[in-house]
Amino acid sequence: MKRSLQRRDQPSVGETKPSSEPRHKENSLTELGAEAKACKACDLWKNATQTVFGEGTESAEVVFIGEQPGDREDIEGRPFVGPAGKVFNSALDEAGIDRTKVYITNAVKHFKWTPAPRGKRRIHQKPNELEIAACLPWLEAELRIVKPAIVVCLGATAAQSVLGKSFRLMRQHGEILSSPLARAVMATIHPSAVLRTPDEASRRSQMALLVGDLKKVSNVLSHGSHTPGGRNHRQSPLR
Ligand code: URA
Repeated sequence: MKRSLQRRDQPSVGETKPSSEPRHKENSLTELGAEAKACKACDLWKNATQTVFGEGTESAEVVFIGEQPGDREDIEGRPFVGPAGKVFNSALDEAGIDRTKVYITNAVKHFKWTPAPRGKRRIHQKPNELEIAACLPWLEAELRIVKPAIVVCLGATAAQSVLGKSFRLMRQHGEILSSPLARAVMATIHPSAVLRTPDEASRRSQMALLVGDLKKVSNVLSHGSHTPGGRNHRQSPLR
């Protein structure tokens, strides 16, 4: 990999990445995605149906980063198409962001799961640091190609992958941060946090938090608080 994301509070990518790090040509997202299909940089490919690469336009002003594909995404081969994706779609709608005009990917591109004690369900497992580090070169390459005005990390895994382990999601969500990887970076809760909340009132407040943070993304884009320059060809994702 030619360049790392240079996160301030994390060891350089090279320190944690396994030696089987993928080497990308980076001609286009299509080529990168095709290359990622064969990724064996960690063991997660063994139990996954397929690599779930990012989806969206190369000229997107916003890149959303989730944790990893879930059961549905693993089957369909597309990010955020399962239950968490439905919550995400509603939150985007409420915030006035058009999903067809953004780029959506995950920190980890294979579904990590364990069989349920009974039945056929596949239970989601959180990726570990090595798996996140092994997948980081793909994310770096996606960001280098898209060059978004703002990167939005959905949940702690994406936030830690991009902003480092000292980042505290519940304290710092919604803050617009500067970063070498985009003009602005923000983290918010993962849409699945809304689903996991047991009662209706807390679900509503979690959703309000998510939508509130996503509206800040809209503000960054509509008020141009990111540095302009060479982005006139881009289509705004805002409705
Ligand atoms: N959760 C994620 O983090 N990403 C997906 O693609 C789906 C669910």
